[in-house]
Amino acid sequence: MPIDKTKIRKCLFPAAGYGTRFLPATKAIPKEMLPILTKPLLQYGVEEAREAGISTMAIVTGRGKRAIEDHFDRSYELEHQIDGTSKEILMKEIRDIVKNCTISYTRQVEMKGLGHAILTGQTLIGDEPFAVVLADDLCDNNGESILTQMVKLFETYQCSIVAVEEVPLEETNKYGVVAGEFIADDVMRVTHMVEKPESKDAPSNLAIIGRYILTPDIFDILKETKPGKGGEIQITDALLEQAKQGKVIAYKFKGKRFDCGSVEGFVQATNFFYTKNKG
Ligand code: UTP
Repeated sequence: MPIDKTKIRKCLFPAAGYGTRFLPATKAIPKEMLPILTKPLLQYGVEEAREAGISTMAIVTGRGKRAIEDHFDRSYELEHQIDGTSKEILMKEIRDIVKNCTISYTRQVEMKGLGHAILTGQTLIGDEPFAVVLADDLCDNNGESILTQMVKLFETYQCSIVAVEEVPLEETNKYGVVAGEFIADDVMRVTHMVEKPESKDAPSNLAIIGRYILTPDIFDILKETKPGKGGEIQITDALLEQAKQGKVIAYKFKGKRFDCGSVEGFVQATNFFYTKNKG
C-alpha cells in the first residue's frame, strides 16, 4: 500500500550528542537517559510522540548510548521480580511503549551537528514527512501536547513546521531564530532564520525549540548543507532553503518548555514535575 504522505507516522529522536554540559554524569550515561524524577528524558519524548498518534520511533544514537536500547526493551528478570508487587505500576508506561511501538536505531558515527544527525536518520524515515523531538527540551501542557498541536497543523499546511517561543533578546545566541509574516493566530510563514545570532543581529526574539515537523526533501538539502555555526551541519541552514520556497511555518505553541540540556533548566523541570505530580 502506498504511504499516505499527508500524515505523520514516524518520529525521529536525535540522541547522539555528547551532552558535555552534564559531565561527568554523561561520561557513561547518555544525556537523554537522565531522569526528571523517575523517568528518563527520552521516555517523556516518546510518550509525547505517542500522544500525537505516532507509534514508529527512530532513534539516532552514538557510541556509549547502549542504555537507550536496553531501556526500550523487555527486562525479563526485573519484570519477573516485580510482577505482582506494588512496584509493578512503576513499569507500566515503559512496558506499554515496548509492547506497542516499533523502535529502531541507527548510529551517528561522527557528531557533526543536529542537521547531520537528522540526515543520519534518513535510513529509518525514508521518503515521508516526519516529526523530530529533541528529548532534552522537555515540554508540558495542560491540554494537547506540543507535538499533537504541530501534527494537526501539518494536516492544514503540509510543509515543515518549527515550534518557537519568545526568549529574552540576550538569549538569542543559544537558538535558531526566525522571522516572517503571521498568516494565522500563532502561525508565521518563515522568510528568514539565523542560527544562534547575537541579539544585535537577531531578526526577532522567536527561538526554535526542539520540536519539528520536516518534509522529506530536507534530506537532499542537508546533503548539500555545508558546516555552519560552530563547524556543525545546522538544521537551521537547511530549513532556510525550504523557507526561501515558502515551505516553513513557525508555530508559537501552547505549553511550557524546559531546556533540560542545561543544568538550570533541568533543575527547574525537576521542581516543576515534582510539584505537579505531588498536587
Ligand atoms: P545539543 O547541542 O543540545 O546537545 O544538541 P549536545 O551537543 O549533546 O550537548 P552539549 O552542548 O555538549 O551539552 C541538541 C540535540 O541534538 C543531538 C543531541 O543529542 C541533542 O538531543 N545531537 C547533537 C546529535 O544527535 N548529534 C550531534 O552531532 C549533535
